[in-house]
Amino acid sequence: MDRFVIEGGVPLRGRVFISGSKNATLPLMAAALLGDGPTTLFNVPDLRDTRTMADVIRYLGADVRFEDHVMVIDPKGFQNAEAPYDMVRKMRASIYVMGPMIAKLGRARVSMPGGCAIGPRPIDLHLKGFSALGAKIDIEHGYVVAEAAKLHGAEFSLSGAAGSSVGATCNVLMAAVLAEGETVIHGAAREPEVCELIAFLRKMGAKIEGAGERVLRVTGVQSLHGTEHTIVADRIEAGTFMVAAAITGGDIIIDNAPLDHMDAVVSKLHEIGARVEQVPEGTRVWGNRENYSPTNIQTWTYPGFPTDMQAQFMALLSLVPGVSIIRETIYVDRFLHAAELNRMGANIQVLNGMATVVGVPKLSGAPVMASDLRASAALVLAGLAAEGTTIINRVYHIDRGYESIEKKLASLGGKVERVSDSAPDEPLALEP
Ligand code: UD1
Repeated sequence: MDRFVIEGGVPLRGRVFISGSKNATLPLMAAALLGDGPTTLFNVPDLRDTRTMADVIRYLGADVRFEDHVMVIDPKGFQNAEAPYDMVRKMRASIYVMGPMIAKLGRARVSMPGGCAIGPRPIDLHLKGFSALGAKIDIEHGYVVAEAAKLHGAEFSLSGAAGSSVGATCNVLMAAVLAEGETVIHGAAREPEVCELIAFLRKMGAKIEGAGERVLRVTGVQSLHGTEHTIVADRIEAGTFMVAAAITGGDIIIDNAPLDHMDAVVSKLHEIGARVEQVPEGTRVWGNRENYSPTNIQTWTYPGFPTDMQAQFMALLSLVPGVSIIRETIYVDRFLHAAELNRMGANIQVLNGMATVVGVPKLSGAPVMASDLRASAALVLAGLAAEGTTIINRVYHIDRGYESIEKKLASLGGKVERVSDSAPDEPLALEP
């Protein structure tokens, strides 16, 4: 099991390149199953999650080759309509294969994902969409079983209590593109990753209107073909490096930050007192902790402040003088990092989906436990800013979503080292 050992207190300086977006890649890999021929994806991040998804797709019968950030998916052998418990348990996004299974094979048997470290994770909206398109859905022995000799277009809403769902919108879209007739999806998610999927499906021959809007209109087609696509840079990785610069009082250039998708994050950094500026070489991010002010953050669906950046901002705000409030509206229990940050000297209280962060003058290094992907990132950031040594256990969480984060941070001067020992990794927890 790997650990990170971090010596804090070094302001980051230099230049960093952001990898392709994990959350954009995963649905595209599933969507490639819909084609009649091979698809090539470029700029695919080399992550535990993209490798897990490749295994899932291979298990279904498709051929996947992945080398040097290029992934070729040939769906010719896609015949298996079952995604077993052991796969879905490892990565919740495996559920993305359900749409392509129903659309192309007329059936699906997919292990029902349970809750995870950040709280309950229902899939009722996915199932609502599939059933509106004509699939018969049953839950049997922990599996969702869907049967649909033929899908037909329908009009329905995918809006839930916490707003729109990225996963349900993507999954149901992948089924609707091959359904007969017109489908109108109200309450669709507007995240850039959904727009990326729509652009990709269109390249495959799908007819979809309304990308980035609440209402999507799909006209079903008989078949889709393989295509080529370059994955957009990861807005959450870029945001994490921005916070790394801000929390260490550093000055970095991010080569390829997808700034068009990062308004909410960039404006919060400005509000706090860090600077983000477009320069000829890329995006410059710098700051001086002495000039920072507290702020309030409320997570919401895009273009609101992303829940996937909440933990990293909590690490930053823990060092900003004054009181900051963070409200988590997407996953109300997504605060496990608060207790670990407190072990490093932060002063954070969590109650009913709201964290009160009272800024402290310094954090001190400590052994801490990563509980989920973004929480781990927050602990790395805290470790970079803390006095002394921080040891982060269970870094397999971070390997799910950040490619070589320790090497990228080291190239910016951060003192981060990966230490391996012979104990096997623990089973992966379910999380975004
Ligand atoms: C995706 C991202 C994850 C991010 C999340 C919210 C991937 C692989 N993961 O997760 O990193 O944190 O979006 O931006 O892209 N919900 C329901 N019923 C459903 C589905 C969702 O009630 O059927 C609720 C969820 O519990 C949550 C909210 O809707 O409260 C948003 O979830 P959703 O957008 O679906 O998240 P994921 O697609 O799982």
